[in-house]
Amino acid sequence: MRKLSILGSTGSIGTSALDVVVAHPDRLRVVALAAGRNLDLIRTQCERFRPSLVSVANPADALTLKKQLRYSPEILSGPQGLLACATYDEADTVLAAVVGSAGVASTESALRSGKRVCQANKESLVVGGALMRAALTQGGGELLPVDSEHAALHQLLAGRPPETISEIRITASGGPFRDWPIERIIAAAREEALNHPTWKMGPKITIDSATLMNKGLEVIEAAVIFGLDANQIQVTIHPQSQVHAMVGFKDGTYQLQACTNDMKLPIQYALLYPDRIAGPVPFYDWNTTRTWTFEPPDLERFPCLALAYQALRQGGAAPAILNAANEEAVASFLDDRIGLWDIQACIQHALEVQENVPAASLEVVMEADGRAREVARKWIDEHAF
Ligand SMILES: NC(=O)c1ccc[n+]([C@@H]2O[C@H](COP(=O)([O-])OP(=O)(O)OC[C@H]3O[C@@H](n4cnc5c(N)ncnc54)[C@H](OP(=O)(O)O)[C@@H]3O)[C@@H](O)[C@H]2O)c1
Repeated sequence: MRKLSILGSTGSIGTSALDVVVAHPDRLRVVALAAGRNLDLIRTQCERFRPSLVSVANPADALTLKKQLRYSPEILSGPQGLLACATYDEADTVLAAVVGSAGVASTESALRSGKRVCQANKESLVVGGALMRAALTQGGGELLPVDSEHAALHQLLAGRPPETISEIRITASGGPFRDWPIERIIAAAREEALNHPTWKMGPKITIDSATLMNKGLEVIEAAVIFGLDANQIQVTIHPQSQVHAMVGFKDGTYQLQACTNDMKLPIQYALLYPDRIAGPVPFYDWNTTRTWTFEPPDLERFPCLALAYQALRQGGAAPAILNAANEEAVASFLDDRIGLWDIQACIQHALEVQENVPAASLEVVMEADGRAREVARKWIDEHAF
């Protein structure tokens, strides 16, 4: 029986993870849940799964929850509450599914505490990279990727000697603007960017998918998880989102991983690894005629992907600067303050003006994150509608 702490239980990944728990009551038990501000949903989740530790973002919400619940778990709040859930003694497995760099410290603490960390929060690996790997080594636990492309690579690379691999490829749907001309992308509206063709996800990652920054963050994530450099990680556009990654071997052979595009599959893979048992997702239907297509990404129409490669090559705190500026710009786009094309301009500006520093510690990268946010906010104020 795995005892599970879910960080970000009220989000798209968190709720899918709870569906996986429901499908495997004999294997998975929830002992801790951490959420942000969705009090109604965390209350319902608490009554259903009865975790003994709960955290929410605000102290006032923690008090309200305490009064409303029909049992008496420990209820904490804020960053300290999130950290307590990440390191909870009762849990042997942590699903890191908070969105954005708000999840960095909790991911690092969970890795340091030696638990199995099922990693959905890609921003932690982008911001913290080598530091997260060091925490994993020190804790002696496991890091299992939840992002579908990285879960696919985890399966494809298992037992493969590194010297036999020539490259890895992660796929991208291409998002809603895949075949749009650049002039239309520049003028794209919020609702158009939120209309993802193949995945249902939280708003931030949906916008990242429309700009291909999501794929850029995943390139950096792959470099961290699998110890590869930028030249070994490629992106292929695959609009059907059925093939999630490929590995190319030195002899020119490729292996591909395919499955239904439902995040419950990679979540279950990470939670139950190495076991593979029937879960809540129906089998892929091979008796239906289908077409799969593959095409290279267009970096002119999707400059965020090029910026992510640039930050990965620069190293140090550059990925943290990229990520922080992106988070600020995406939030402002969602607030209708700037246009879609401004996102890449804002990130480019932050990478240009902010001095890069070696990623010597988590404090150093989080300082770089903070400075990049100031730079990005100033740029946004100057360019807002
Ligand atoms: N969605 C996907 O299909 C998918 C696929 C691969 C990877 N990912 C990655 O998984 C992560 C989560 O994505 P998502 O789509 O599930 O996001 P989401 O739907 O926006 O959910 C985010 C979760 O984080 C919680 N949260 C936000 N700030 C918090 C804070 N300061 N303290 C505690 N909790 C906080 C939210 O709580 P409230 O809602 O209660 O405020 C919510 O539970 C992201 O890093 C994303 O890149 C997502």
